[in-house]
Amino acid sequence: MDTIQVALGERSYPIHIGPGLIGDQELLRHSIPATQVLIVTNEVVAPLYLNAFEDALSAKQQHSLVLPDGESEKTLASLAKILDKLVEQGFHRDAYLVALGGGVIGDLTGFAAASYQRGIKFAQIPTTLLAQVDSSVGGKTAVNHPKAKNMIGAFHQPSCVLADTNTLKTLPTREFSAGLAEVIKHGLILDSTFFNWLENNIKEVLTQDSSALTHIVSRSCEIKADIVSKDEFEQGARALLNLGHTFGHALESLMGYGEWLHGEAVSIGINLAAETSRELGMIKTDDCERIRSLLKQAGLPVRDSKIEPDALLKLMRMDKKANTSGIRMVLLEDLGNAVVVSSPDERVIKKIIQTQSIDSSV
Ligand SMILES: NC(=O)c1ccc[n+]([C@@H]2O[C@H](COP(=O)([O-])OP(=O)(O)OC[C@H]3O[C@@H](n4cnc5c(N)ncnc54)[C@H](O)[C@@H]3O)[C@@H](O)[C@H]2O)c1
Ligand SMILES: [Zn+2]
Repeated sequence: MDTIQVALGERSYPIHIGPGLIGDQELLRHSIPATQVLIVTNEVVAPLYLNAFEDALSAKQQHSLVLPDGESEKTLASLAKILDKLVEQGFHRDAYLVALGGGVIGDLTGFAAASYQRGIKFAQIPTTLLAQVDSSVGGKTAVNHPKAKNMIGAFHQPSCVLADTNTLKTLPTREFSAGLAEVIKHGLILDSTFFNWLENNIKEVLTQDSSALTHIVSRSCEIKADIVSKDEFEQGARALLNLGHTFGHALESLMGYGEWLHGEAVSIGINLAAETSRELGMIKTDDCERIRSLLKQAGLPVRDSKIEPDALLKLMRMDKKANTSGIRMVLLEDLGNAVVVSSPDERVIKKIIQTQSIDSSV
């Protein structure tokens, strides 16, 4: 088992990573020291892991809430269901919430923990690769507004994260690849050695070799934890984690949520950000090819021929990170070295979107 510490003063917490953590009684007792525990999960994850987790945890007053599956459930109505259960069962301030599932369950449960009695403790037990390498770390919690994703939420750090890499065995291949987009992103923004490692070990990763999985989750969490501890509330460095996301979010919104998984849209966005960086004289053609090749080997798309450049640009201007002076996006100075660029030349971006959408050789 690997352990990484997120250093945030009195809000610091450990991330434990490895196979079999869900059934580790000793670790659970130590990590979730409460008499009242509400486990929030969904209809897909519950039949796979809830019983084993409940048996191993065995808190005095232990309840579970099994919600329907899907992003469409990340709503105020689901939040109300969790809060209702906490009130009905007479949960106190020293109770724990546990998020057992992917990013949807994690974001929703985290927000419930942030708001119940103005904040109670919660543990993240992420069961998708995306949740293990990204959403369970850093304390961003949210639900969706019917018209805007993640629009209602709070910063609320978990008390611990337990990433059981065995749970990834039941994850659909497409979801696993989507998580790899964020892993590759972590290498690209801060760690060229990790990017090289991924190029050399992508087969072991795809066949889910146990030590390869522990390594990618650990290194991703280390990189994210390091950025979060420097910039918890996203005033500066944390923005680097948005590589590929200005394009990606616009693409998700343009195509309608459900066409591409988030990680797939990010993968297309990383390719567009890399090409924009090259066009602006920052990285080399060869670097772009290495990035595309790794994304494709990871089972990810790198282009979408249905993109309408002006429509995508319009949505990019509306991105939460944009401001009155224009688009802000993350570009690459080098592999392993990302920078935030304000108001990049939109003609360049448009040209890249156009060429990357038509060029079927990429
Ligand atoms: N808080 C953050 O910092 C942050 C960062 C990135 C993404 N997010 C959020 O995360 C969400 C996406 O997370 P996600 O990709 O994990 O989606 P998800 O939670 O919908 O999980 C994807 C699918 O996999 C299923 N699943 C989960 N674990 C499984 C397992 N072990 N085996 C089989 N199936 C399993 C889920 O039920 C679901 O159908 C979005 O809502 C996004 O906004 C948050
Ligand atoms: Zn993302």
